[in-house]
Amino acid sequence: MSETFTIKIDGKDCTALQGETVLQVARREGIEIPTLCDDKRLDPAGACRACLVEIDGQRRLQPSCAWKAADGQDVKTHKASERVQRHQDVLVSLYMADHKLDCEGLPIETGNGNDLRAWAKDCSTLKLDPVNAPRVARPGDKNPYIEFDPELCVLCARCTRYCDEVEAVNAIALTGRGSETTIGTAGMRGLLDTSCELCGGCIDTCPTGALIEKKAAKTLPEEVEKVRTTCNYCGVGCQMDLNIKDDEIVRVTSPDPGTTVNDGNLCIKGRFAYDFVHHKDRFTEPMIRGEDGQLHPTTWEKAIAFAAEGMKKVAQRHGPEALGFVSSSRCTGEENYLMQKVARAAFKTGNIHQCSAT
Ligand code: SF4
Ligand code: SF4
Ligand code: FES
Repeated sequence: MSETFTIKIDGKDCTALQGETVLQVARREGIEIPTLCDDKRLDPAGACRACLVEIDGQRRLQPSCAWKAADGQDVKTHKASERVQRHQDVLVSLYMADHKLDCEGLPIETGNGNDLRAWAKDCSTLKLDPVNAPRVARPGDKNPYIEFDPELCVLCARCTRYCDEVEAVNAIALTGRGSETTIGTAGMRGLLDTSCELCGGCIDTCPTGALIEKKAAKTLPEEVEKVRTTCNYCGVGCQMDLNIKDDEIVRVTSPDPGTTVNDGNLCIKGRFAYDFVHHKDRFTEPMIRGEDGQLHPTTWEKAIAFAAEGMKKVAQRHGPEALGFVSSSRCTGEENYLMQKVARAAFKTGNIHQCSAT
C-alpha cells in the first residue's frame, strides 16, 4: 500500500502519495496550475516555467511538475502568492512577444487549442515589443499529415520528448541555438525522409498548435462535437474521438492520457486514415458483379447466396483446399469465431486466417 501524507496548497490540506509531484497533488485536488511542457506520459522537463510555485523554505520559485511533494510542505500557487502571479504575468508576456497574436492581442487560437492563450487570459499581460526571432520551419517537407508553424512554438520540447520517450523513434529534436532554436530533423529533411512513423503523437501533445494536422488545420476545437468510438483498424481496441463538424469527420483525436487503454496514443491509421468514411467510392450496399463485368446493387440475402454458391462450386471442382478464408481485425471476436466455423465445419478446410496476425 502506498504511503500517504499531507501537504498544504494555498492553505488547503491535501493528501499526497509517496513519489507524487506537487502538480499531481494539486490537480487531484482541483487546484489549477498552468503548464506548457507537462505531459503525464513524459518525464518532467521543467522547461517552460509556467508551473512555478512558492514552497516554504525555498528561496527560489520551483517547478511544481518536477518538485516532489513532501510531508508537511507548504505550497502557494499564483492564487495565493503575489510573487508567483507576478512571475506568471512577466513570463506569459515574454512568450507572447514572439508568438502570433490575434486582433485582441491574445495568442491565436488553433485547431489543437492553444494553452498559451488560455493562460494569457488569466494574467495581466505586459505590452512588450515584439521579438523578431528567425525561427525556421522545414522547407519542402512533403509529408501529407503534419504541419509545423515555428511562430507558434514555445520550445517546450513535448513533441521531441514524446517522439523519444513514448514512440522511441527520435525523428525530431530541438536544433539550432539561442533565438534560432527550432524543432528540426536530421539535416532538416522532411519527415518522410526520417524515421518518423507519422503517428501524430507530436501533434497531440503540442500545447500551442505549432504542430497540427494539415487537413484539419482550420477547424477550431469549439466548432466540433466529439464522439468517442473504438478504432476499427486492428484488434487492440484503441479509443478515439471523432471530431464532427456539419456531419463530417474533420479530425481524429485521442482521449486524455491515463483514461483509456491506448493512454492518449494512436497510430497513423487510427489518427489520419478516416477519409474512407466519406469517400465517394465507398460501398454502402451489397453488390454483385454481373455478366457485363460491372457491379450492381443487390440485397444482402442475394449477395450471400451468390457468394455461397460460388464457393461451393470451387470446392466441388477443386476440393476444399482450393478455398481460403481471410477474416478481419475489424470484426468482433464472435464474428471471427463464426468465420473459422464456416471454414472448418461447413467447407472442411483449415485455410483460415485473420489479418491482425500480421
Ligand atoms: S509523427 Fe510520431 S514518429 Fe513522427 S515526429 Fe511525430 S511523434 Fe515522432
Ligand atoms: S512544436 Fe509544440 S510541442 Fe514541440 S516544442 Fe514547439 S510548442 Fe512544444
Ligand atoms: S510545466 Fe512545469 S516547467 Fe513546464
